[in-house]
Amino acid sequence: NVPVLHTVHQVRLWREQQRAEDKKVGLVATMGALHEGHLSLVQAAAAQCSSVIVSIFVNPTQFAPHEDLDKYPRTLSDDIQKLSKLPVTVFAPSATEMYPRKQSFVEVLGLSEMLEGVTRPHFFRGVATVVSRLFNIIEPNYAFFGQKDIQQCCVLRALIQDMHYNLKMVVVPTVRDSDGLALSSRNVYLTAEQRARAPAFYRGLCRAQKLFDSGVVDRKTLIDAVKDEAAKADLDIEYVCLSNPNDLKEIDTVDSQGAILSGAWRMGTTRLIDNILIGFE
Ligand code: PAJ
Repeated sequence: NVPVLHTVHQVRLWREQQRAEDKKVGLVATMGALHEGHLSLVQAAAAQCSSVIVSIFVNPTQFAPHEDLDKYPRTLSDDIQKLSKLPVTVFAPSATEMYPRKQSFVEVLGLSEMLEGVTRPHFFRGVATVVSRLFNIIEPNYAFFGQKDIQQCCVLRALIQDMHYNLKMVVVPTVRDSDGLALSSRNVYLTAEQRARAPAFYRGLCRAQKLFDSGVVDRKTLIDAVKDEAAKADLDIEYVCLSNPNDLKEIDTVDSQGAILSGAWRMGTTRLIDNILIGFE
């Protein structure tokens, strides 16, 4: 039976208890609709921390008015069920508990405007705002995030540094279905026909990885490999970028710093993202 906390006050009492018992607290922040990707974060947290808290909160400030806030899957009792065999506490606040007022926001300039920030200009402000609230409420020693949302990791790493949060961030590898499609809560929106075409993007990323392994380092060749593979499945590509992992700026060649190869595509009204890291030791 998973303990479920709903208020900031309850979390603070719980946190005091963990401190009194000298436990190291790991946070896994989620918007629910939990799948194996989320669960791998929970497992990584449980392996590293003596106490794990999973937040489940569909954060309104990271959705633009035209995005899918209302139809985003909300499956709290199923989610709690999925966590029932794991040693975790759940924090599932209401919107008014998290946002007693809507006047205070946290912004990570620069990084938030790149890549995903181009089509989703308010997205990372919403993410940074809710995650900093979670950090302030929970005071975790570790926070676990998925590589699937690589730019989110970059933005939150900068947030932690800039705001002097006293915690360590851990990035967990992307969990994929057997055909390569990265698990995502938004995959449930796909029709069977869309779902069958969706893995082509990752096939493109893998082709680029192979080219890199055989010595190709230039941007156009690597990006074209992704686009070609995606075109075979008629994917509606929004962007494919090769970026410096520190500032997310476009690079012409992969050097010893490595690179992020990432992109987004649309399938009907659904927008999906994926990435790989290349050239990291
Ligand atoms: P959500 O999309 O629910 O994802 C929660 C966490 O799970 C994120 O760190 C995300 O990167 C990770 N994750 C999602 N799919 C994954 C996969 N296939 N493999 C590995 N990890 C995966 O990301 C958010 O929620 C929100 O922006 C949040 C950080 C909770 C702030 O509201």
